[in-house]
Amino acid sequence: MIANTTQFDLRSKLPNIKESIFSVMSQHARANNAINLSQGFPNFPCSDQLIALVNKYMQEGYNQYAPAYGVMELRETLAQKVNKQYGIEVKPESEITVTAGATQAIFTAILGLIREGDEVIVFDPAYDSYVPSIKMAGGMPIHVSLKGPDYKIPWDEVKKKISFKTKMIILNTPHNPCGTCIDEDDIEQLKIITSGNNILILSDEVYEHAIFDDNKHYSLLGSDLAERNISVFSFGKVLHTTGWKIGYCVAPNYLMKEIRKVHQFNVFSVNTPMQYAINEFYKNEGNYSSVSNFYEQKRDFFLNLMKESRFSFVPSAGTYFQLMNYSDISKQSDVDFALKLVQEHGVASIPVSVFYNDKTDEKVLRFCFAKTDETLEKAAEKLCKI
Ligand SMILES: Cc1ncc(COP(=O)(O)O)c(C=O)c1O
Repeated sequence: MIANTTQFDLRSKLPNIKESIFSVMSQHARANNAINLSQGFPNFPCSDQLIALVNKYMQEGYNQYAPAYGVMELRETLAQKVNKQYGIEVKPESEITVTAGATQAIFTAILGLIREGDEVIVFDPAYDSYVPSIKMAGGMPIHVSLKGPDYKIPWDEVKKKISFKTKMIILNTPHNPCGTCIDEDDIEQLKIITSGNNILILSDEVYEHAIFDDNKHYSLLGSDLAERNISVFSFGKVLHTTGWKIGYCVAPNYLMKEIRKVHQFNVFSVNTPMQYAINEFYKNEGNYSSVSNFYEQKRDFFLNLMKESRFSFVPSAGTYFQLMNYSDISKQSDVDFALKLVQEHGVASIPVSVFYNDKTDEKVLRFCFAKTDETLEKAAEKLCKI
C-alpha cells in the first residue's frame, strides 16, 4: 500500500516499542533450523480429553457469545478452586472475570484502574506487557531492579520509590524470567508498604501450577492484601494451550466493577466452547494440581544434562523457565551471545537484558523447558559442546 505519511500527523503512542524479542528469536530459530527454547510455549500436545470436551461443546451448539464476564459454571468452579487453595471466599457473579488470556486481564485491569500521572512500581526483569499497558493508560512505570543470582525483591529500595503518586505495585510470582517465588517475608513487606495508603497490587500468578520442590505458592488471594489486589491467571500455562488465550482475574467487587467496564469494550466476552470444556476439565482437580510435578521433572531432566555444560545456574523454583549464566564462556553482551547461540550452535534463547528497562546485562539467558524430553536432550547436547 502506498501512503503519503507526511500528511498524517501520527505521533506514535508507544514510540519506543519495537518488534518483540520473542518474535525476533523465533524467526532466528526458524531461519537457522535451531531448537527453539526462546518463546514460552510447550511443544507437546495438551490432553486428548480436553480436546474432546471442546469438540463436544462445539457440536452441542455452544458457539455463540458467552456472557461478558465468563460462563457462570466456570466462574463457580474457579471460585471453589480459589476457596480450596487459598482459603478466600470470592463471589463468582462479581469477583471473577474470564479474559482473553492473562495479557488481556493485565491490560484491562491497568486501563481500568490507572489514571494519567499515576505511578506503578514494576520489578525488572519484567514480563513485557506491563510497561506498555501502564503507558497506554497514561501512567508512569517506576522500575525497581532485581539482581541475580537470587533476584530477591529489594524492599528498602521499593520503599524509597513509593510516593503520593504510587497507585499500584505489579508482582509476578512465580516469576518470569527469574524462576523465583515470593515468600511470607515478601508478603509482610508488602503489608508494611501498603498499610495506611491506597496502593493497589496487581499480582500476575500465571505460573501458580508450576512451582517446585514442595514449595507453596503464596497467592495474594491468600493474604490480608486481597482487599486491594487483582490476581491474574492463565489457562494456557496450566493446560498446555497457550494458543487458546484464555485466562481470568479475581478481584474484590469495587475493583472488578471498574475492570469490567473496560473488559466490556475491549473484548466483551471470551470464546464459549472452551470455557465449558475447561469447566468440565477443572472438575478433576488432578488435571491442574499435577502440573507442578510435571514441570519439576522437566526442569530436573534438563538441569541434569546441563550439569556437564560450562553454564552456571540456580535451579528454577517455579515457571517453565531456567536462567543460565554464561560468564565462564564469553564476555559478549547477552544479546550478541544469544544471537551467536542460535546462529552458530542451533539453540534459541532469550537474553535477559531485554526484560530490564535499563538493559542490565548480567550475562544471563532464559531457556524454556516446556519441551519434550527429546527436544531438551538435543538442546542440552548442543549447549554442552560450547
Ligand atoms: C508472567 C506472564 N504473565 C502473563 C503472560 C500471558 O499469559 P497469556 O498467554 O494467558 O496471555 C505470560 C506469558 O508468557 C507470562 O509469562
